Amino acid sequence: AQLDATFDVRADQPAAQISRNLYGHFVEHLGRGVYEGIWVGERSAIPNTRGIRNDVVAALRKLNVPVVRWPGGCFADVYHWQDGIGPRDKRPLGTNTSWGNIQETNAFGTHEFMDFVSQVGARPYVGVNMGTGTTAEGKAWMEYMTAPPGTPAAKARQQNGQEAAWDVPFVGVGNESWGCGGQMRAEFYADQYRLYQGFLHGYSKNKPFFVAAGPDSDDYHWTETVMERAMDWRERPVAPLLYNVDKPLFNGLALHFYTLASNDWFKMGDSAGFPEKEWISTLKRALTMDELIRKHSAIMDRHDPGKKVALVVDEWGTWYKAANNQPSSLYQQNTLRDALVAAVTLNIFHHHSDRVRMANIAQMVNVLQSVILTDKEKMLLTPTYHVFDMYQVHQDATHIPVELQSPQYRHGEVSIPALSVSASRGADGKIHISVANLDPHHSIKVSARLKGFTARSVTGQVLTAGAMDAHNDFDAADRFVPVALKGVAIVDGQLRAEFPAKSVTVLELQPS
Ligand code: AHR
Repeated sequence: AQLDATFDVRADQPAAQISRNLYGHFVEHLGRGVYEGIWVGERSAIPNTRGIRNDVVAALRKLNVPVVRWPGGCFADVYHWQDGIGPRDKRPLGTNTSWGNIQETNAFGTHEFMDFVSQVGARPYVGVNMGTGTTAEGKAWMEYMTAPPGTPAAKARQQNGQEAAWDVPFVGVGNESWGCGGQMRAEFYADQYRLYQGFLHGYSKNKPFFVAAGPDSDDYHWTETVMERAMDWRERPVAPLLYNVDKPLFNGLALHFYTLASNDWFKMGDSAGFPEKEWISTLKRALTMDELIRKHSAIMDRHDPGKKVALVVDEWGTWYKAANNQPSSLYQQNTLRDALVAAVTLNIFHHHSDRVRMANIAQMVNVLQSVILTDKEKMLLTPTYHVFDMYQVHQDATHIPVELQSPQYRHGEVSIPALSVSASRGADGKIHISVANLDPHHSIKVSARLKGFTARSVTGQVLTAGAMDAHNDFDAADRFVPVALKGVAIVDGQLRAEFPAKSVTVLELQPS
C-alpha cells in the first residue's frame, strides 16, 4: 500500500546554521555505560589503548562525534573528581549511590575521560557537582583541568601525567537540580547557580560555555525563573566594572526530555517485541519535542531576544523497561523504532537550530538509546548509530526550511503525521534531505519542488526492515544497515522518490 505527499524545499530561504554539537552524546557512570562499554583497563584481553576499547573508539570516530557529556546525569551530583585522579591502584573504592549502589572503582576519572574524547576526536563537556559538592570543589576542578603548566594549581595534573592544560569548552552546573540533583525549586537553583558561577571559570585561554540546569520536559516555570533570575549581571551596580554585562551569566540552558512508550513513567513499555500501539505512542511522544522547544524558546525569547543563550537538550532519547531484569542498568534493545525516534528528533532540532545549539543523546554505549551495544569482547552498531551516521552530513550545514503536506498515520485513536523531513545545504553546495516515514504499513511517494536550487542528480541511503522491532544481534551485527534507495530521481526539476514504510532516508542532491 502506498500514500502520496508533496513538499517544497526552500533553498531560497536559508536559515540558521545547524550546529555540529546537536550530534553530541552523553556518558554516565551507570550500568555498563563507562565500565565495559568504554573502559576495560589496560590489562584486558579486549584490544584497547590505555584501557579504552579500540572497537568502540573506531566506531565513534566514524560518526564525527562533536562533544561528549560526562560524568552524569544524576551521578555528576555525587561525583567527587579528586577520587578519580592519581595512580589507579590508589584511588578509593566508592559506591554508585545514583545507580544501584554498585561499586565505583574510580578507574575512569578526568584523565581517562579526556583521553577517551581525544581518541574519539570529540570535545569534553563536564558536569560540576552542585548537589553534594561545593563551590571550592568545582573551582579546584576547573583549575586542575585548565591552569597553565607551572602554576601551583597545575602541579598535581602534571604529576599525574598531563602537562598541558586541557581545553574544557563546555561546563554544566548541576544536573536535574529539580530532581536527583537536589530537589531544588527553580528560585533556589537560580541563586545557587549565581553562587557557583562566581567561582567557576577557565584558566589559561579557556573560556567555557556554561550550561545551567534547565527544565524537566514541560516545566515552563523553571525556564521562566532561571532565565529571569540567573541570566545576567545587569542589576548589580558594580557589574559593568568587573564583567561584560552583555555576556549572559550562562550560555546554555539544559532541557531534558525522554521518549517512553507512553506518557507514564510506570508504563515505559518494552524495547523490543512491542505492539503497534506502542510504536505509534512512542513516536507521538517523540514528536512532542517540537512543542517543548517552541514553548521554552518563546520564554527565552522574552528574556534573551538576541538568542545569546542556547537551549541545550543535553539528555534525550528513548527509555524503556530494562532488557536484562536489572532496572538500574538501563540497558535496553535498540530497534528500527529507535531509529525513527532519532530521525524525527534530529529533524526537530534542525528546525530550531537558531536556538537549539547543542544536544546529547542518552546514552552513548549500553545505556538507554545507545548507538553502540557491547557484550564482553563483542560490539554492535544499533539502528540509532546508523541514523547518526547518515545524518552527519547536516553537521554545521545551513538549515533549509521545508514546507510539507504530510499524510496522517493512524492507529486506533492515535494519529500523527506520517512524514518528518528536514534539509540543509553543506559548504560544498550539496543539499541533504532527511525523511522519516513513520507509517509502518504504507510507503510514501513524494514529489518535491526545489526552490532556489537546481539539482543535477540525487542519490539516497535508506534504513528500513520488515519488523518494527528489527535490530542487530551480537552474532549478526551487520544484518541491519542502510542500503541505497532505489528509484529516486530528478524529473523536470522536481525530486521524485518513494520512501518505504517505517524507514529513515537521507538524500544527497548535487547542484547542477
Ligand atoms: O540518563 C539517565 C538519567 O536520566 C540521568 O542520570 C538523569 O539526569 C536523568 O534523570
